[in-house]
Amino acid sequence: MTPEILSLARYLASSRAEFTLSEMNLYLSRKYDEKELYESLKPHLYDLSLFCDARYKCTKLANQPLPADESIIRELEGMFKTPRLPARVEKLVESYIERSCGKDWHTGRKADLIRENIVKQKEEYWKGKSQYPRIRIISYLLYHFPVYFCQYQYLLLDLLRSGLLTTKMSILDAGAGPGTITLSTIDFLRKLLEVYSKKNIDVKLSIKIGAVEQEAENINCYKELASSYLSDLKLDNANITMAEPVSAPLETVKLPEDYDLIVFSNVLAEMDMPPEQRADVVERVASASKNPTIIIIEPADLVNSTALRVTQHALIRKGFNIFSPCTLIWGIGCTGGNCWSFEEPGSIQVPGFMKKIARTGEPYRYINTDMKFSSVILRRDGITKHAYRAKGKFARLANLKKHVGKRVNVAVSVMSGNLGDEKTFVFKVCDATTSVPCYAVLPAYHMNDNNKAIFDAGYGGIIEISGTLIRENRAFSSYNLLITRNTAVRIVN
Ligand SMILES: C[S@@+](CC[C@H](N)C(=O)[O-])C[C@H]1O[C@@H](n2cnc3c(N)ncnc32)[C@H](O)[C@@H]1O
Repeated sequence: MTPEILSLARYLASSRAEFTLSEMNLYLSRKYDEKELYESLKPHLYDLSLFCDARYKCTKLANQPLPADESIIRELEGMFKTPRLPARVEKLVESYIERSCGKDWHTGRKADLIRENIVKQKEEYWKGKSQYPRIRIISYLLYHFPVYFCQYQYLLLDLLRSGLLTTKMSILDAGAGPGTITLSTIDFLRKLLEVYSKKNIDVKLSIKIGAVEQEAENINCYKELASSYLSDLKLDNANITMAEPVSAPLETVKLPEDYDLIVFSNVLAEMDMPPEQRADVVERVASASKNPTIIIIEPADLVNSTALRVTQHALIRKGFNIFSPCTLIWGIGCTGGNCWSFEEPGSIQVPGFMKKIARTGEPYRYINTDMKFSSVILRRDGITKHAYRAKGKFARLANLKKHVGKRVNVAVSVMSGNLGDEKTFVFKVCDATTSVPCYAVLPAYHMNDNNKAIFDAGYGGIIEISGTLIRENRAFSSYNLLITRNTAVRIVN
């Protein structure tokens, strides 16, 4: 593209509310097709704050929160009731596998090797060289990718609800792997635009997505999947551009860009350093961003989940604040120690390619559909998902020792799904005052209209529990807050 085109576009963008690309020919030294002009300007539209539609009419794009009223959220929630990979993504992943391993990837010796690798990767001891060059990323696509793709969209939905997704956003996929987060973000925006269009809400989006990844193999996969997905999608109301992925370790990468959203999905745990030190990496990556939203996602197992809270706490000491899931109910922060908390939004539908690799005597070893993850969303501007603060009449969980055997009132966040069974429902609860684990325990025969709201609070939701009986569980060094038929539970966020 000639500098003439860009400088004219910059001038028109700053001096007109709208213009057509054909108009540009009036001022240029030679004539161009509109399409030609569009293609050369496309990578610059984000920086120019311009949106050019299918008829090549360009308008100024104001950055504002994406509409998210009740009916929009309800519609999206409906779409998430049966989480699954979109058909197009499923097809792209399967073609990628076919191109890498051949059409017969799911039969015979090749399938055995992939299965072996899935099991090894699952157990986190995959080492050495595989027979097929791309097998490592292949087993990741087959086993981990679908769940990670789907679970991330629940966090985006949360950001949308809270007004943290806007019409103009620069997003960084940090430790991108095959592009799980990039593809999932694009799919989420596609669904959202579908809802807007159904409701005749005119919203235009300008999105720029960058990525950092240290493995060349993964970058190749990322580029192939993400660019094919994007070029196939016809999104009339969105200009989504992808920057060339940066091939570097996150510890040393140079990122001068100001990002609005930075996502570390299942990457920090792979870093060979203590959890506190991972906070330095996050801080460095975000250092050029004015006010980013940072999402960190980790597996839900004890080691990775508790490590995330340690990293999270180190970030708080560096000046970040938790947007979600934790609420400082008494206005004071926890220590970040000994906290095992994760959410479980349900199961995804089994993608076709997963079914194919699972056609063995032990299919369950290759089927991965449970969404179960630990996450934190951080900001630097003090914004939190819930502003609730407890006052007066509630006991702090840090003081439960002196209330053992008595009934008290507490205000707590629900920090798990049901950890018990159908006879006894158990929820982890927290008010950020103690690192001693506390559980709300509701025997099914005590459940009634007065206390069943605990099921509707949702992960991170805040409830007031009135008249809960405190018991100490010495064997587990924890407290149980017994909810009986005389206990009231009220959602307060
Ligand atoms: C488990 S995969 C996660 C990929 C993707 N974010 C997702 O959620 O599916 C971790 C990725 O992070 C990359 N990675 C690990 N440590 C890294 C580092 N220090 N710098 C850059 N990338 C890293 C790995 O190469 C791998 O692609």
